[in-house]
Amino acid sequence: MDKAKTARIIGCGSYLPEKILDNKKLESMVETSDEWIVSRTGISERRMANAEEHTSTMGISAAKKAIAQAKIDPLDIDLIIVATCTPDYLFPSTGAIIQREVGAKNAAAFDLQAACTGYLFALSIAKGYIESGNYKNILIVASEKISSIVDYKDRNTCILFGDGASASVISDEGKGLEIRNVSLGTDGNHANLLILPGGGSRIPSTEESVKSKKHYLKMEGREVFKHAVRIMESAAKQCLGRVGVSEEEISWLVPHQANIRIITAIAKRFGLPIEKVYRTVHKYGNTSASGVAIALEELLQEKNVAKNDNILLVAFGSGLTWGASLLTQN
Ligand code: ACO
Repeated sequence: MDKAKTARIIGCGSYLPEKILDNKKLESMVETSDEWIVSRTGISERRMANAEEHTSTMGISAAKKAIAQAKIDPLDIDLIIVATCTPDYLFPSTGAIIQREVGAKNAAAFDLQAACTGYLFALSIAKGYIESGNYKNILIVASEKISSIVDYKDRNTCILFGDGASASVISDEGKGLEIRNVSLGTDGNHANLLILPGGGSRIPSTEESVKSKKHYLKMEGREVFKHAVRIMESAAKQCLGRVGVSEEEISWLVPHQANIRIITAIAKRFGLPIEKVYRTVHKYGNTSASGVAIALEELLQEKNVAKNDNILLVAFGSGLTWGASLLTQN
């Protein structure tokens, strides 16, 4: 009988545009202040893609780093999953463009959309495919050019978001972070809390849809906030329960980087000192699907993650969607 397969993250990469949009600049764009933004969100600056940087190109840069770190041949990649809510086009998929540019010509590719939880949804699919023996090497790319759907006249949203990409190679072979469990959830009752109304089949692009700003994301921030902490706590507890790991055994928490107040509240609920919670929100803001894996990559670069350390990822997003994953270094 074949030995049981174990899905692991064996390579990570990320890409952040060089251009910085700081709070001072935002003060000149909308009625806000550095003090308000920092105290309410913890964000000081975020990255902005330039006209030549797209969800695909940022994703390609992140993917190349992840593939190099994993030391695999792009021809050995079987599947590419791109998590994004800001694809280059509605079709073809951003996955198809990335497949071409990284030279993974033996890979199938598709996009998935679970907003800020996209990386965790992709991780769950990758784990399933690897452990069933269907595929050997899977590339996940989470990339967002969220600036393309943000209204820079709307102070409720424009202060929060930034652009960026992350990528991971998942395989049964090689050393890395074992994906012990991924727990996911959705509650469509709150689908309207965070929405991009225009550009789909319900409100196609017209002169009128542009004039009435239907192509910008709309968010009921206070309502989203109320659900975020509760949702991430229960997702994380479900995931820990499924693998039988206690809260005390968490070495690092890597939460979705939406707001420092949400992050601090989660840390408190798990009794974790803030030093054990990896944060990038101050410098990148909310980069949607890519955020958790950008933070994970930086954690691996900067901190001494030791054998058997447990890393808990947790995220939430539009849908509402949520997810948590426990990774163990081996
Ligand atoms: N600058 C100054 N004042 C502002 C700004 C701003 N940028 N934005 C709002 N205000 C004002 C409001 O108008 C309001 O004024 P009022 O009391 O006179 O009406 C006051 O500040 C307080 O507004 P609230 O909305 O209550 O502020 P809150 O403390 O809730 O912070 C925020 C707002 C930061 C949006 C918060 O609710 C939040 O982080 N929510 C979660 C959002 C989130 O995580 N979204 C991403 C989900 S993931 C995904 O799928 C993309």
